[in-house]
Amino acid sequence: TGLVVAMDGPSGSGKSSASRGVARALGLRYLDTGAMYRAMTWWMLRQSVDLTDPAAVAARCGEPRIESGTDPDGPTIHVDGVDVAGPIRESEVTGAVSAVAAVPEVRARLVALQRELIGAGDIVVEGRDIGTAVWPEAAVKVYLTASPEARAQRRSAELAGSTVAAQQEAMAKRDTLDSTRKTDPLSMADGAVELDTTPLTLEEVIAEVLRLVKE
Ligand code: CDP
Repeated sequence: TGLVVAMDGPSGSGKSSASRGVARALGLRYLDTGAMYRAMTWWMLRQSVDLTDPAAVAARCGEPRIESGTDPDGPTIHVDGVDVAGPIRESEVTGAVSAVAAVPEVRARLVALQRELIGAGDIVVEGRDIGTAVWPEAAVKVYLTASPEARAQRRSAELAGSTVAAQQEAMAKRDTLDSTRKTDPLSMADGAVELDTTPLTLEEVIAEVLRLVKE
């Protein structure tokens, strides 16, 4: 199979931009697994599923058809044929996604879809459990980090009308949920290279990952 690059880490670590940049530079496909958890959450909210009830979430998570487009120049995400790229970034989804992603049945379904897409390889895959659970055999595994301040700053620059302090608090909450859940919590994979992006520009992060790929 072709090359698989696993890019894991918390939000605001610069994962998305770096992953797309690496895919573009190497002519690989790009998969944003976080967008799939967000799409599932968007659908659950639309269906008024009680997200505080894991059994209710588990019972319904087989229903939506979730499709990811893997072109790094224009990744797409559809639920039952509806383009949800915009709505999945809204705060309602961001605030609810960690609870949905903690449900084992949700993870089993989305990980199966991810493995199908990764299939023959030649892809950069971004997420939180790619190197640990989804594709542990990835040739290159990178774990991106950044200081809480840098992460909150990056995220509030992306989202209009949110303060850095509010971002930092929301991120800390999501980090706790993501790293303490029972199924495949956010953690560094065996064989992963940790890359602290705090002092680096996007171009420097991409260059460093390209160097790891060529090693
Ligand atoms: O936008 P941000 O980088 O903060 O997060 P994301 O990559 O869009 O992921 C949103 C949420 O999905 C995370 O907070 C996790 O709860 C969940 N997620 C996951 O559990 N496993 C993944 N491989 C990717 C995302």
